[in-house]
Amino acid sequence: MKIEENLTSEILRRTSRRKFVDEEITVEEEVKIVEILDEINNEERGLNFKVIVNDGDEIFDGLASYGLIRGCNSYIALIGDSKEKKIAEKIGFYGEYLVLKLVQMGFGTCWVGATYDHKEIKEDVSLDYGEKIYCLIAFGKINSDTKIGFEKLVSLIGKKRKSIQEIFPNIKKVKKESQKWIMKGLELVRKAPSARNKQPWIFDIIENDTITISAKENFGYEKIDMGIAMLHFQQGAQLCGCKGEWRRRDGIWRFLLEEKDENTQI
Ligand SMILES: Cc1cc2nc3c(=O)[nH]c(=O)nc-3n(C[C@H](O)[C@H](O)[C@H](O)COP(=O)(O)O)c2cc1C
Repeated sequence: MKIEENLTSEILRRTSRRKFVDEEITVEEEVKIVEILDEINNEERGLNFKVIVNDGDEIFDGLASYGLIRGCNSYIALIGDSKEKKIAEKIGFYGEYLVLKLVQMGFGTCWVGATYDHKEIKEDVSLDYGEKIYCLIAFGKINSDTKIGFEKLVSLIGKKRKSIQEIFPNIKKVKKESQKWIMKGLELVRKAPSARNKQPWIFDIIENDTITISAKENFGYEKIDMGIAMLHFQQGAQLCGCKGEWRRRDGIWRFLLEEKDENTQI
């Protein structure tokens, strides 16, 4: 999995937003979002992301949402084929790509796995055989970059971040010449959203100095969290000129570097 586009400034700017203003999403904006979704759905097997614009308020109203998402009536349903391998990681990776594109367009966003009405959504979104809604991305217009009141309070959960040592206990094994891009990758991983802000990621280094990622259990969201972190890591590495791609080989997710020429790697 790989995204060539540089989205570092969006990664640095992003933070979950849970209070939206009463302003409709325009037709032009909707068209742009649909174009991005179409591109993802056409290129990535098993993904079938759908967007609901200006008509999704019941999903976040009422008890099922615990009142955590306010004033939101637009969302993207991250639908995937549950029969497809690696689907949860893909949902995380391409879902986060979407989040960053929405941030680029000026929207506020929040990944929502639990706090929405799981029954009501069936009225809005139809699923094909084997398909499942893995998560939602709530999005909409926001007032300013500063959170106040309820939103500020809720987002305190998301403030604390694990240290690099915690997410990569074997960091000392990294060779000096690779430190720069790996540290940049990890720095951006530390900005990544995760369910309940658990940051369940564990990075490691194995044979041939290959970086790997796995994740501790996180209420069933760990593979999605992992996909999100994979995108952030790849973006950081890419920023330092180190192009690579996540591939799962022998059941392990590895960050494989693009070869510079026939024999050498970056
Ligand atoms: C897979 C996933 C599921 C999430 N589900 C919810 C949710 O149900 N309700 C909610 O308010 N936030 C949810 N979040 C947002 C996290 O709480 C938030 O990303 C985390 O606290 C870090 O804060 P930040 O996004 O502001 O950096 C979810 C995030 C992820 C990645």
